[in-house]
Amino acid sequence: MKKPLSIAPSLLSADFAHLADEINRVSQAGLHYLHFDVMDGHFVPNISFGVPILKAINRLNSGLINDVHLMISDPLKYAPDFIKAGADIITFHVEACATHEEVISLINLLKKAKVQIGVSLKPATPVQIIERYLAMVDLVLVMSVEPGFGGQEFMPNALEKIRELVKIKQANDLHFVIEVDGGINEVTAPLVRASGVDIIVAGSYLFGHTDFKKRVELLQNDE
Ligand code: DX5
Ligand code: ZN
Repeated sequence: MKKPLSIAPSLLSADFAHLADEINRVSQAGLHYLHFDVMDGHFVPNISFGVPILKAINRLNSGLINDVHLMISDPLKYAPDFIKAGADIITFHVEACATHEEVISLINLLKKAKVQIGVSLKPATPVQIIERYLAMVDLVLVMSVEPGFGGQEFMPNALEKIRELVKIKQANDLHFVIEVDGGINEVTAPLVRASGVDIIVAGSYLFGHTDFKKRVELLQNDE
């Protein structure tokens, strides 16, 4: 029996004029994660939303896990604001940290705040860059698109990276979960599932359509 795949709908593709309804739809579909794609227009060439949106959604007490993906420069400086605003998971980009010391400081800050620690890799960043941190993190987010926009084409090199992470995890008895983000739909979901991913982020495939629940089932379908 294949392990169940968790789905984290990306708010980036939600209707920002009806966020409470959109989040209700996520809960009604029996999902447990909400993926917040925070973009600063500097680390990535797009600006999405920040702390005020997380704070407002946290006040809804949806019971969903606030899975915050920081596509921002200087994550160490801004992480405390997202912790205060209700982040349950904070995933930063290793490419946004100038030094090893900065990565360690951020990991320690998140650990102290009892927030789940995630580290993310852009498509061109090899797994080796984060190997030294894998025993310290709770989640690795493999980008299967260039970060910055929803609705992009899935990049297959993510599959090899997921397989590589699974191997390292098993060889070293590590506990981090593997999440993939970008271009996930009913065709690419089985591919990432077969590679060993635990959580999939999906934005444009889920939001902006009338059949949210049906689309969730299509992503969960493990034929
Ligand atoms: C990229 C974003 C997107 C988003 C998912 O920076 O992180 O990957 O979450 O978007 P879709 O599912 O539309 O590719
Ligand atoms: Zn994301």
